[in-house]
Amino acid sequence: MLISWDESTNQLHLCNGRISYIARVLEDGSFGHLHFGPALTPGRSYRHLGPDRFEGFSNRVGEPIAREYPTGGSGDFRVPAVVLEPADSSPVLHLAYAGHRILPGKPALPGLPATYVEADEEAETVEVLLRDEPSGIEVTLLYTIFADAPVVARSARIRNGGAQPVRVRCAMSASLDLPDASWDFVQLSGTWARERHVVTRPLVPGRQSVASLRGASGHEHNPFIVLARPATTEEAGEAYGFSLVYSGNFLAEVEVDPFDSTRVRLGINPESFCWTLDPGAELALPEAVLAYSGAGLGALSDAYHLLYRQRLARGAWRDRERPVLINNWEATYFDFNEDRLLAIAGAAQEMGIELFVLDDGWFGKRDDDTSSLGDWFVDRRKLPDGLDGLARKVEALGMRFGLWIEPEMVSRRSRLFEEHPDWAIGVPGRPRTESRDQLVLDLSRPEIVDHLFSLLRDVLRSAPISYVKWDMNRNITEPYSAALSADRQGEFFHRYILGVYDLYDRLVTEFPEILFESCAGGGGRFDPGILAYAPQGWTSDDTDAVERLRIQWGTSLVYPLSSMAAHVAAVPNHQVGRVVPLQTRAAVAFFGVLGYELDPTVLSPDERRAVAGQVDFYKSHRELFQRGRFVRLRSPFEGGGNEAAWMAVADDRRRAVVGWYQILNHPEPGPDRIRLRGLDPAARYRVMPWPSVGDMMAGDTIVRGGDDLMHAGILVIANRRDTVERGDFLSRLFVLEAVE
Ligand code: GLA
Repeated sequence: MLISWDESTNQLHLCNGRISYIARVLEDGSFGHLHFGPALTPGRSYRHLGPDRFEGFSNRVGEPIAREYPTGGSGDFRVPAVVLEPADSSPVLHLAYAGHRILPGKPALPGLPATYVEADEEAETVEVLLRDEPSGIEVTLLYTIFADAPVVARSARIRNGGAQPVRVRCAMSASLDLPDASWDFVQLSGTWARERHVVTRPLVPGRQSVASLRGASGHEHNPFIVLARPATTEEAGEAYGFSLVYSGNFLAEVEVDPFDSTRVRLGINPESFCWTLDPGAELALPEAVLAYSGAGLGALSDAYHLLYRQRLARGAWRDRERPVLINNWEATYFDFNEDRLLAIAGAAQEMGIELFVLDDGWFGKRDDDTSSLGDWFVDRRKLPDGLDGLARKVEALGMRFGLWIEPEMVSRRSRLFEEHPDWAIGVPGRPRTESRDQLVLDLSRPEIVDHLFSLLRDVLRSAPISYVKWDMNRNITEPYSAALSADRQGEFFHRYILGVYDLYDRLVTEFPEILFESCAGGGGRFDPGILAYAPQGWTSDDTDAVERLRIQWGTSLVYPLSSMAAHVAAVPNHQVGRVVPLQTRAAVAFFGVLGYELDPTVLSPDERRAVAGQVDFYKSHRELFQRGRFVRLRSPFEGGGNEAAWMAVADDRRRAVVGWYQILNHPEPGPDRIRLRGLDPAARYRVMPWPSVGDMMAGDTIVRGGDDLMHAGILVIANRRDTVERGDFLSRLFVLEAVE
């Protein structure tokens, strides 16, 4: 039993031996919060953890009583979870407990991506019903605790049980009060080509947040934050994770009040949201996944990685080994024909690459980015035998064929726009803001989703297509839907993302064998919502290995290796002009789903041999690189940022691969050892540098104990000559295999 409800005290306790989440009905009938964190013994009362009222000064209101779904206007002056605007009364709500039910497993959320179970024993869910009697508004809070994860998934439904329409101005997925404020706020922020850098700041009194108003979760901030004790490291210390399973405008906000209590709220960004609920109507809110670790950031990431890889990602490709691909984008951009593509595919196949992906430019008359989005018909000038002809020729080479699409967009210069100018998002009578010469289709309208589904179904049926890269290259401006009445325009952004989910859902259901990869100008919509449909995502348009160290490190705080596509690209790198050795480019891209994004026909014979060796190496450790436990060892965000190190460890701890990276070389380095983690201390491991070259300082294969490797460490810089010879952008890989 994971969830108990003590009828005598009205205390709810979710506990799986690793964490507890405890709440209770307060004296005033509201639902109060008591504890989220380390497991506390079930069957006891914890009412002392959350007082019913502040016992201090009688002239004060607004004291920090913790509620599970706080409302404003009646003494709690902190940020609320819900704000309603009823037609006939005040916005004050008193949400009082009105019942609960405990369910085995985990119910699906209608129209929304969410974590799930495959068997009822994997989790338990409690639904707690709260009601505001005067208005008839009902809020159902959902909590799921997983048997094996330090995680609670929360969401909420709001139902208008009154007789008048109600406007929902703010409705969070979760709100959580913590009893003190000595936390660091960790966020994943950046922009195009430098997504998800780790940014850490101490909490201060007042509000601090990350958010999006772009119509997508965005490159700028991820819908994920951590509150970590200031001394927390990868290995030790307390940390809470808050991750929103949502791909649209979000808010992740923390408020510290004058008494140093901390409120966290997570959900759809209220700034761009207003939803009208007619009498009897209900609104389901996205899921927030809350995790707790008492053993550092590493354990927090482990929890998210396992859950998101196994019980958020879905479909046939969830557990399958992902193919090594070659993508023609940086090799050709829009300038290709069938011969050129087949030359790329042929050279790639000879190096062991398994999937050829045809990127942008295959449809309409798309010779640059100014036209044809929406016209998903093959361009016979470039591909005279159509997609089918090309795909069959690629398959005849012994490779699979994959295709790029950008379904949500339309170019002004397109047949689709000529036929349906009103399908593009925009405010009547106002100019539309341009971005990359394209407009966004109004996916809040079901008929447009229907059109895209049938068009794309035809495309995907027209050729043997094994993989789809679904791109989304601009944000939404002039948000307005012609299909919504003036008083319902506040629903637009959420309805848009529901349309995206609907289209994704229909396509992945219709084509269960196709591997979908999400993309949004790189990592502009790399979030758990999309991960539920596309089990891997294009992590960033930045293919430079040095930049990728930070991007992949930051991304790994919450997202698993199996979700992170990482490519080896040509040098000088197309985003930053840097020339990084081929070995280091591969050593970074190995940790994730490997691909190549270059023209293999222009590689030298030595480079082709090297790539063939990399692909072969990756395939022999693919399980580890895609599904191993990812352990972060040395942060590129700390200590001057000149180094990074990480490793992937097999579940049984019998094998691991360690990667170490140094950006700029320095004269006269001292010896440097990295202490590994996650190994079996009692096992003995054969340590093999890869590639095993004669001048490698570790020299020949050696056998060392797991304890030795974790406590004394592995030598990455041994002597000066070694590093001086190797110059900048140095990397080392070590394969560890348990012996006997
Ligand atoms: C986006 C993607 C790239 C590429 C281009 C094509 O920028 O992130 O990988 O597909 O679009 O236009």
